Amino acid sequence: MKNKKQETNKITKGGLFDVYSLWDIEPVRAKGCTVWDANDVEYLDLYGGHAVISIGHTHPHYTAMLKKQIDNIVFYSNSVQNSLQGHLSEKLGEMSGCTEYSLFLCNSGAEANENALKLASFQTGKKKVLAFNEAFHGRTSAAVAISDNPSIQAPFNMGHEVTFVPLNDIEAVEKELQTNDYAAVIIEPIQGVAGIFIAETEFIEQLQALCNKHNVILIADEVQSGYGRSGKFFAHQYANVQPDIIVMAKGMGNGFPIGGILISPSIDARKGMLGTTFGGNHLACVAAIAVLDVIKEENLIENAAKMGAYLQEQLQDCAGIKEIRGEGLMIGVELEAEYAELRNKLLFEDHIFTGGAKNNVMRLLPPLSISKEEIDIFIDAFKKQTQQ
Ligand SMILES: Cc1ncc(COP(=O)(O)O)c(C=O)c1O
Repeated sequence: MKNKKQETNKITKGGLFDVYSLWDIEPVRAKGCTVWDANDVEYLDLYGGHAVISIGHTHPHYTAMLKKQIDNIVFYSNSVQNSLQGHLSEKLGEMSGCTEYSLFLCNSGAEANENALKLASFQTGKKKVLAFNEAFHGRTSAAVAISDNPSIQAPFNMGHEVTFVPLNDIEAVEKELQTNDYAAVIIEPIQGVAGIFIAETEFIEQLQALCNKHNVILIADEVQSGYGRSGKFFAHQYANVQPDIIVMAKGMGNGFPIGGILISPSIDARKGMLGTTFGGNHLACVAAIAVLDVIKEENLIENAAKMGAYLQEQLQDCAGIKEIRGEGLMIGVELEAEYAELRNKLLFEDHIFTGGAKNNVMRLLPPLSISKEEIDIFIDAFKKQTQQ
């Protein structure tokens, strides 16, 4: 295994800045929850390219819409009308239940968080942000500053005023917010990179009440947990809350880069307040519209809830597991042993992609279209590997 990884690193060294650890696998084709590599080896995808593949790889409706759009126009700019943005905003509002919110489009999760924080700061005139221990919000300047991982923060990113408190600790939040120094609180309703930790329903509701009381903007980072992955359109919808800003990316474009923020009507827009060159381009909008079409047509949110419950149920019978956490198809399995070796075995022997988090957490983030049969293949492989 080691040799394989070293070979791959050698290949990339020529021209690419060597920041990624790569598996020696090159996917060249994919369909639904299946991926084929350059040697035509078939893999089952329980990782979804890191929670990005929502409707399944190369869905025919999605590819047809993108192909058609390419022949019409790919890009102009945000200085002219683009009715695709309006269609997307309408569909998104209707399907997410956030009909009152307005939409700002950008290109990635980190960029969306950056805009959410900027908006919160404009709105409140303040700059301090409350975030949660173990949080991950991205790699751009402010996004990395509110991520609880000093190893990915350059000195340049450390100038932001950020306080971290434990997730689900409302007293710690209250102690901070009563200083009235804060512009925003940002929360992942289900922490992803941390290893799948759920913000409790009651906690999120109390958090919103405290934000309202102290005029602090509540930002729900749904980059990983949104777009149906949790079994609801947004994971915060398990609680009775309406965040001021909802952040989206990953599943939004099923692989086409697009991010965005939904903004509650309490926040007013001003010309020039936010902006981007590529955000909301024609292809990105079409990808996002196609994703919503398929989610609706194929009841994928319901499927995520059902298949997630089935997957968790099947995992109950497996050996070597300490705890299973998650909602829908965002599942963390805390193992008794470290995950790296098992992950390699599942990948190289059984040809199944899974995700990891921390040393002993397996993260399952399959396309929302996964079937029972595909889950059974994974469970059989997991049992075989853990019972050896
Ligand atoms: C919750 C959360 N927010 C933000 C991001 C950053 O998204 P991107 O990599 O698209 O910038 C991620 C990526 O994993 C994420 O999980």
